[in-house]
Amino acid sequence: MIFYFSGTGNTRWVAEQIAKGIGEALLSIPDMIREGRNEFELREGERIGFCFPTHGWQVPRICRNFIRQLSLKNKTSTTFCWGLTTCGDNTGETMTILNKELQAIGLQAETVFSVVMPESYVCLPFMKTDPEDRERWKIENAERQLYHIISIIKDCKRGIEELEKGATPRLYSYVIGAYFNARMVTDKKFMVDPDVCIQCGKCAKICPVDNIKGTPPKWIHNGRCTCCLACYHYCPTHAINYGKITRKRGQYYFNKRVDQR
Ligand SMILES: Cc1cc2nc3c(=O)[nH]c(=O)nc-3n(C[C@H](O)[C@H](O)[C@H](O)COP(=O)(O)O)c2cc1C
Repeated sequence: MIFYFSGTGNTRWVAEQIAKGIGEALLSIPDMIREGRNEFELREGERIGFCFPTHGWQVPRICRNFIRQLSLKNKTSTTFCWGLTTCGDNTGETMTILNKELQAIGLQAETVFSVVMPESYVCLPFMKTDPEDRERWKIENAERQLYHIISIIKDCKRGIEELEKGATPRLYSYVIGAYFNARMVTDKKFMVDPDVCIQCGKCAKICPVDNIKGTPPKWIHNGRCTCCLACYHYCPTHAINYGKITRKRGQYYFNKRVDQR
């Protein structure tokens, strides 16, 4: 059983490859929340995995809240639990934070990975989408890495830690990331240019926390925005922006270039 969250499709693609590789069910965290499902039964010998993007060197809020409510039946002391985070550059102590959350419900991800994928964060002056060649390079590396990750999970190998933590991971997660997640994960800055919006409704459909209604879109400020930027990146006319900063930024989602061919 694999629980996953993905804003722009990177983590969904990674989680899909693993689910296929190990033959286990893939469950979307936003769908589980929508369905009010927080109790799950493990089959005998079934592994449990968590996949999500790194957000501000931490676990996205939606995943932390989901884990806090999670109840697993038939979990035993030998249940193999693993975690994977995708990131644009590095994770800091994201997986230590994951394990703090998991410990509170009697679990521990004994084997953890990060997979570097194309950048999706574009709301700070120095943050941009990757150029095409870097995007391709990251995905090709990820493909190779996934073969290896799948074989580790298949064999339930414990104690593996393959993480791109970056320099000073504690500083990034507990100081910069703490500030980022407390102050900068907000839907207050999203805006739409009604003259550019083609009223396709894609943003409302793609929002994993149902925080957008109508055409042109309105953010209902339901307190659940995790700033995944799906609404920004999937907008076909770049009508959605996050303040002024993203007006000249690129847009990215997994397979966007394939869709545009
Ligand atoms: C709000 C936000 C914060 C992010 N923070 C980080 C970060 O701290 N470190 C990093 O390397 N990438 C960071 N990224 C980039 C994403 O982790 C990366 O692009 C990821 O693969 C996106 O996954 P997704 O397509 O499944 O949403 C961030 C992206 C967003 C939207």
